[in-house]
Amino acid sequence: MITSEQLKKKYLKFFAERGHQIIPSASLIPENDPTVLFTTAGMHPLVPYLLGEKHPAGQKLVDVQKCIRTSDIDEVGDNIHLTFFEMLGNWSLGDYWKKEAINLSFEFLTKELLIPLEKIAISCFGGDQDAPRDFESAEIWQSLGLPKDRIAFLDKNENWWGPAGQTGPCGPDTEMFYWAGENPAPKIFNPEDKTWVEIWNDVFMQYNKTSDGKYEPLKQKNVDTGMGVERTVAVLNNQDNVYATNAFKPLIDKIQTLADNIDEKTIRIIADHSRTATFILGDQKGIQPSNLGQGYVLRRLIRRMIRLGKKINITKPFTFELAEIIINEYASGYPELKENRDFIIEQLVREEEKFSKTLEKGLKEFEKNSSQNISGRNAFILFSTYGFPLEMTQELAAEKGLKVDQAAFNQEFVQHQELSRTASVGKFKGGLADHSEQTTKLHTATHLLLASLCQVLGNHIYQKGSNITKDRLRLDFSHGQKLTVKEIKQVEDLINQQINKKLPITWQEVSLAEAKKQNAMGVFEHKYEDKVKVYNIGDFSKEICGGPHVKNTNELGHFKITKEEASSAGIRRIKAILENNQ
Ligand code: ALA
Repeated sequence: MITSEQLKKKYLKFFAERGHQIIPSASLIPENDPTVLFTTAGMHPLVPYLLGEKHPAGQKLVDVQKCIRTSDIDEVGDNIHLTFFEMLGNWSLGDYWKKEAINLSFEFLTKELLIPLEKIAISCFGGDQDAPRDFESAEIWQSLGLPKDRIAFLDKNENWWGPAGQTGPCGPDTEMFYWAGENPAPKIFNPEDKTWVEIWNDVFMQYNKTSDGKYEPLKQKNVDTGMGVERTVAVLNNQDNVYATNAFKPLIDKIQTLADNIDEKTIRIIADHSRTATFILGDQKGIQPSNLGQGYVLRRLIRRMIRLGKKINITKPFTFELAEIIINEYASGYPELKENRDFIIEQLVREEEKFSKTLEKGLKEFEKNSSQNISGRNAFILFSTYGFPLEMTQELAAEKGLKVDQAAFNQEFVQHQELSRTASVGKFKGGLADHSEQTTKLHTATHLLLASLCQVLGNHIYQKGSNITKDRLRLDFSHGQKLTVKEIKQVEDLINQQINKKLPITWQEVSLAEAKKQNAMGVFEHKYEDKVKVYNIGDFSKEICGGPHVKNTNELGHFKITKEEASSAGIRRIKAILENNQ
């Protein structure tokens, strides 16, 4: 038997001994990434470095990264899908290439995990108009003893990874499969046979996909790898599902003692969602339940747990008890969970209290109207009066073979001018920063905006969230009142003055303590051994940030605020554009 703790330790030690720096898991909330709500892979926080920026810890890195993939939410409860998981990864940022990467993978699999060669199969990229067939990787595998028949060449759908969003680093990959069957593995690898379980992926990131769909060579050739902890532990222990692993055992046991109905799938979903919710609440950038973005996903997860808990007759508040188990289990690897323990518990208790009050009535209301498909109006009433996320109503409807009129729901939503949840719609899928020129300019403009708001409105201004696409920026910040027309004009003028002053943008890497001393704005989170980057725009703005930014404000064009509105209590939202930013 191997536990997840043992696997993680082995992995970090193995790569550390081979010249890799261990870096801490980054936040689950991506920095400067407009196209995705959560960190979906180990490479996600490393995008600027895959694109060529110098990483403070060097060119060879290894870590365990906490990840969330909400695109898999409907599959959760089967044998392998999870919304939260841990990913092991090692990286070469312009250092070693295919031969060394594959050798390292092979050595770890066969010498550390002691997987017999007979149980391993490999897939490589088959080639197309964008990149050649990857004979090189296949030959390296063969040189290590893998028989030709155990190596399959597959197309881009299977053997190409990234960009996770529309643009960014990507490349052909070679995937490693483990034979999970009881009988000896067949001589010839059939990738369609699900007894072969993928456990590791080495991606050769040498391309940058551009917004017009071209694959340009990157400045440097990188290796990005990913191994899912839960899945690998399960297969190594001959367990056919991730919920059977040690990571889930105390949670599943607890849920079983609380419930009087042992519906396996329901218990698994609750276990999965409790981990995800606990990690979101306990993140370095701690999020609370809301109707927006990450907060909305969190609310969905918690409320789904509560509804399912009711279904299996859990009769008292329970989500905080599950969180306690998770905090204890993971605190050593993720100290932020311990630091944020009170916040996690308090938020879960509050959300459960709030939703328990309306759940029963809401379910009655649902039953009353569920002899036919659910109208947008009824779904909206369930949302606004009873706190049912749309997805919950959809799930309840699906259980009865019914549908919800989502378009009509959205119309109701707009009509009622509720806080927009659209920020989260369509963004559950994995995706990466669009590092286009337009987005980069708007990112720099966002720094100017925050600094200007501070000057015009006062020092109580903090950034509460931002979302930048190539067309516009959006900034949420702490402020109690609507901005006056005069204030908006003052902020715009101040920004355009800085643009006209042609201020250079520079950055330095400093310790967290130094950044605090310099009064840099931004989130003070523990990262990269406490080194952070501070971006300066002339003397006007100083902010902790990962980039990317333009070099000079004269690249920005004319700044204009297009909207100023409430976001939630005490938080205002500004949307703005750069005119002629194409
Ligand atoms: N980024 C690659 C993955 O997530 C390694 O599979």
